[in-house]
Amino acid sequence: MPASAGNALLDHYRRTARRLPWRAPPGERRADTYRVWLSEVMLQQTTVATVTPRFLRFLERWPTVEALAVAADEDVLHEWAGLGYYARARNLIACARAVAAAGGFPDNEAGLRALPGIGDYTAAAIAAIAFGRDSVAIDTNVERVVARLEAVSDKAAIRAAAAALVPTGQAGDFAQAMMDLGATICRPKKPNCGACPISGHCKAYALGTPESFPVMAVKKARPVRYGTAHWIERGGAVWLVRRPAKGLLGGMPALPGSDWGDAPDTVPALAEVRHGFTHFELRLAVVAGGAAQGDGWWQPIATLHDAGLPTLYRRAVDAVLATRNSLAA
Ligand code: ADE
Repeated sequence: MPASAGNALLDHYRRTARRLPWRAPPGERRADTYRVWLSEVMLQQTTVATVTPRFLRFLERWPTVEALAVAADEDVLHEWAGLGYYARARNLIACARAVAAAGGFPDNEAGLRALPGIGDYTAAAIAAIAFGRDSVAIDTNVERVVARLEAVSDKAAIRAAAAALVPTGQAGDFAQAMMDLGATICRPKKPNCGACPISGHCKAYALGTPESFPVMAVKKARPVRYGTAHWIERGGAVWLVRRPAKGLLGGMPALPGSDWGDAPDTVPALAEVRHGFTHFELRLAVVAGGAAQGDGWWQPIATLHDAGLPTLYRRAVDAVLATRNSLAA
């Protein structure tokens, strides 16, 4: 993209930037590194609309990286409940502790990338937004914008084209201008090219087929796995356990249950929920009864929604309660 297009995009950003609580206004002093880091980790695979209120609550509870570094793991996982991808929360804690021990965040991409939970994209985003480095942050949104501008789909070509775009000294605003463009105008489906400040530079637009870039690899269907969870009830409370620290939903509260496998259980279920994980779809059957054992506690049914359950188990609980309410009605 020629420099004039980069400038047109920056001008547009300065006029229209979304005001988000982790951002410094365009052109102004740099945003607080802790806020930038926290928001980027939360925004990995989660939308701005979902993240915004959760970010504010998190910040109120732990206003600095030092405060987060001394938080109890369980409290942080509880605050993360419902945001998904719980490895992010565990890495967040590890990262806060490493940063607090080192006396602050590293101010460059390589140093940031060495921290837990910070990959190529996040390191580049923080380096550009918080430290003003000329780094190129490429996520799927930026990839799509660049693929259309240049009418290319190959990852290496996209990366090279993106690197050529970053205006020296303005990489932070530029990264966020690209994010806003990808989220609001250059959307995956039905891009709003009429409102795009750089459509005049866009090769896919000139071809008349912006939506066809980038060409996606054909997705394989996700395999299905099956699990059984036990609804063990006593005196108005349900037995919950904490999942093992490693693995999916690690460290999170859950209904006790089997390992997830390839075959469904044959015991009649109170309820079944389907939940999409990245690499498979889970069908979780909730069955009545079982032994209250392991690292667990009795959670009053009235406070199940305050237990910090991840979405899968929250939905399982809701499905059981809905069945019982419909029986009582
Ligand atoms: N997605 C990822 N990072 C973002 C940011 N800083 N602002 C808006 N959306 C984003």
